[in-house]
Amino acid sequence: MTMERATQIELIRELLDLHDRRSPFLDEHWEKPDLERYQSGEFFAREREGIFLALPQIASHASELPGPGAFLTLEMSGRPLLLTRDEEGVARAFYNVCRHRGAQLVADASGCRQRFSCPYHAWTWSNAGKLIGVPHEKAGFPDLDREEHGLHALPCEEYAGWIWVSFAARDSIDVQSHLGDLAPDIVAMDAETHVVFDTTSRDIEANWKLLVEGGIESYHFRVAHKDTIAGLFLDNLSSYRCFGPHMRSVLPRSSLSELRDKPEESWNIGEHANVLYSLFPGSQFLVQEDHFVWIQGIPMGPNRTRMRLSTMIPREANTPERQGYWRRNHRLTTTTLEEDFDLGEGIQRGLGSGANAHLNFGRFEGALVQFNRIVDEAIAGNA
Ligand code: FES
Ligand SMILES: [Fe+2]
Repeated sequence: MTMERATQIELIRELLDLHDRRSPFLDEHWEKPDLERYQSGEFFAREREGIFLALPQIASHASELPGPGAFLTLEMSGRPLLLTRDEEGVARAFYNVCRHRGAQLVADASGCRQRFSCPYHAWTWSNAGKLIGVPHEKAGFPDLDREEHGLHALPCEEYAGWIWVSFAARDSIDVQSHLGDLAPDIVAMDAETHVVFDTTSRDIEANWKLLVEGGIESYHFRVAHKDTIAGLFLDNLSSYRCFGPHMRSVLPRSSLSELRDKPEESWNIGEHANVLYSLFPGSQFLVQEDHFVWIQGIPMGPNRTRMRLSTMIPREANTPERQGYWRRNHRLTTTTLEEDFDLGEGIQRGLGSGANAHLNFGRFEGALVQFNRIVDEAIAGNA
């Protein structure tokens, strides 16, 4: 498991105590968030500026750029990106936009190339972003400064097995300070020893925040997941802590109560609970016993979010004999999360109806209150 023993014991004790008292994890108050924040274009524009264009985000797992020459393209924060690994093995991020007349430079989703040639007039760049070819350069672009026309690069850092990108106008990013006190947990996950077993991606017709909120409370497990995972978890029992804008939630499985009769030194939280790390704003890691799931939400508009679910498995466990096991795991994850996404789409459809003037977050849904506070603070420039 990924966290210090003392922390594990403290978190387990807290949950066992609540379970003994038949109490959920309760915050002081319940809250009534307004609906505008889930549907207004104006609010979404402020989130884009204050959050998605301002903070470092995970763009890909390191293994998705497996070696020199590897590349992939994606859209994040409404902008087309090209990620590459150059000949020295350094991960780089660029806009996927030609510097001649702005054509989309690379159409393929991924592959391996040393150079990228624009499909319009064949200006060509190396995978380190250097301009290396311009047809009829002397006649058409006398004195062209090639240095000035490298691909437009974005701050990019490979950290803890992930490729992080920022759209903020800086030269570099500091992922470790962005993660703050959560950094040791994220490093200890050892993501660099994992590979992507499979990814399922779908555009969901719901605001990105509804989809985060769907994952950080356990009030709904017994009802919404009755056909999938409900039986594996304790009813309406989970805890959370905030780490700056990030959050760590503990979702205890039914077996947690067995720990009462066992010595604390033998407690291992990973055997009896799923731990969910919500890295603000766009990625969540759902840590399970022998693997984890990377849930990436990419907002495409106020009512649309691209959700990518990746089952991340230890590299050495990616053997032919275990393919069936991992496939079943991936299917259970996607089926369960589809249940959440369908609910999110239903909420979004109802928002404009006038049925509700506000939503209701109960005292055991305090993680949702905190998450929305974090959004508001980030918009105000304090994340
Ligand atoms: S637009 Fe790319 S080479 Fe002309
Ligand atoms: Fe759920």
